[in-house]
Amino acid sequence: MNKEVFTLTSPDGNTMELPVRTGTAGPDVVEIGRLYAEQGVFTYDPGFVSTGSCDSEITFIDGNEGVLMYRGYPVEQLAKHSNFVEVAHLLLYGELPSADELAGFETSITRHSMLNEGMLRFFNGFRYDAHPMAVVSAVVGSMSAYYHDTMDVNNAEARDVFTHRIIAKLPTIAAAAHKLTAGQPFIYPRNDLNYAENFLRMLFAVPAEEYEIDEVAAKALDLLFILHADHEQNCSTSTVRMAGSSGANPYSAIAAGISALWGPAHGGANEAVLRMLKEIGNAKNIPKYVEKAKDKDDPYRLMGFGHRVYKNFDPRATIIREMCHKVLEKMGRTDSPLFELALELEQVALQDDYFVEKNLYPNVDFYSGIIYRALGIPTSMFTVMFAIGRTVGWVAHWREMITDPHGRISRPRQLYSGPAKRDYVAVEKR
Ligand code: ACO
Repeated sequence: MNKEVFTLTSPDGNTMELPVRTGTAGPDVVEIGRLYAEQGVFTYDPGFVSTGSCDSEITFIDGNEGVLMYRGYPVEQLAKHSNFVEVAHLLLYGELPSADELAGFETSITRHSMLNEGMLRFFNGFRYDAHPMAVVSAVVGSMSAYYHDTMDVNNAEARDVFTHRIIAKLPTIAAAAHKLTAGQPFIYPRNDLNYAENFLRMLFAVPAEEYEIDEVAAKALDLLFILHADHEQNCSTSTVRMAGSSGANPYSAIAAGISALWGPAHGGANEAVLRMLKEIGNAKNIPKYVEKAKDKDDPYRLMGFGHRVYKNFDPRATIIREMCHKVLEKMGRTDSPLFELALELEQVALQDDYFVEKNLYPNVDFYSGIIYRALGIPTSMFTVMFAIGRTVGWVAHWREMITDPHGRISRPRQLYSGPAKRDYVAVEKR
């Protein structure tokens, strides 16, 4: 809906009216698509801090108020009453499913969890110490070689089968990546277990003995998957949308998202938090590291603090903090020195003027790493855990992007600041 217009005046006095669009919630947006054609200038916004890249109906965040909603439902309500598979249906199809729809969706996700046996052999080509994120992104990319039938992006049925396949197979691929590093045999999925239980079993079971599923662990994992499921146009989701906007096959677009997630400024932060806590080692060292993080001449940052969008608090961190205590209690690790160190660091940073003034609060990854560790999940798998949950969001956004009738290939412009035109000089004259 056009509410009003923005009037832009160029240095030579030309004016141009730019339409303003109002969404269901959040700031209005100024449409600048005609700017170049009519005024011959581009806009410049490195890091896209003021730029909306699309019109989306999936997730809403209010960073100042600490609000996160999936399809209009506050994440706190979903965390309390729902489960990951139901939330996945909500994100993908726009509505909470009826009992029948949920049963059908769960069955389909369960039935797609096995991997093509050829793909399993693909794992053997990796070095035993390969980082699981490298393995997972490569194997997901390779799915385009195994599942040709679901690559027609213009076919609704193919899109649905792709959707169910990737969500069902991600935990199987992730667990297999871990088994490769652990030197243990691959464990096949089991259809009688729910999504989180099945993943825990594939990750930890060995053929030599029965594996007992810990309900607190499964619940914590399910909650973490819900909290990581989507976060509107973040770096990895924008990567998926951008890669997919060329019409590339969806497996490649998701593999691109996994690669983007790996960076320490994004999903790699949960792993970095654990490394940071180990490096700090002892509460008495905290002031030294806090000072380091505050030093303008030192690139060091406290991992797990700060967020591009949340400038008040990260609602996911509030939910997860509570679960963190439950898990540590159940696992008998309340006196874990690492957790004590984390809480101490949290308190010091929350009271420090630098962190308060810059609104740097603990984000979801500050706590998720501690929970994963308490569950016995290896540090190198932390970002993979994030990827399992976020796959649902990536797919929901890919589906929205690919079916958008106004969709075009993503192609930003630039401010060129390289050399002006110059002539080639022969090698012997340089
Ligand atoms: N420690 C110390 N200082 C920090 C931190 C930190 N963790 N984060 C931001 N700052 C400072 C910056 O130095 C900057 O200071 P300045 O204004 O004096 O230059 C200011 O706070 C603003 O930071 P930016 O980097 O401009 O903020 P941006 O929105 O670009 O970055 C980010 C957000 C990447 C999350 C950043 O806060 C960070 O690197 N945090 C640590 C990594 C992390 O936890 N990432 C996980 C993000 S959550 C997720 O992906 C699920």
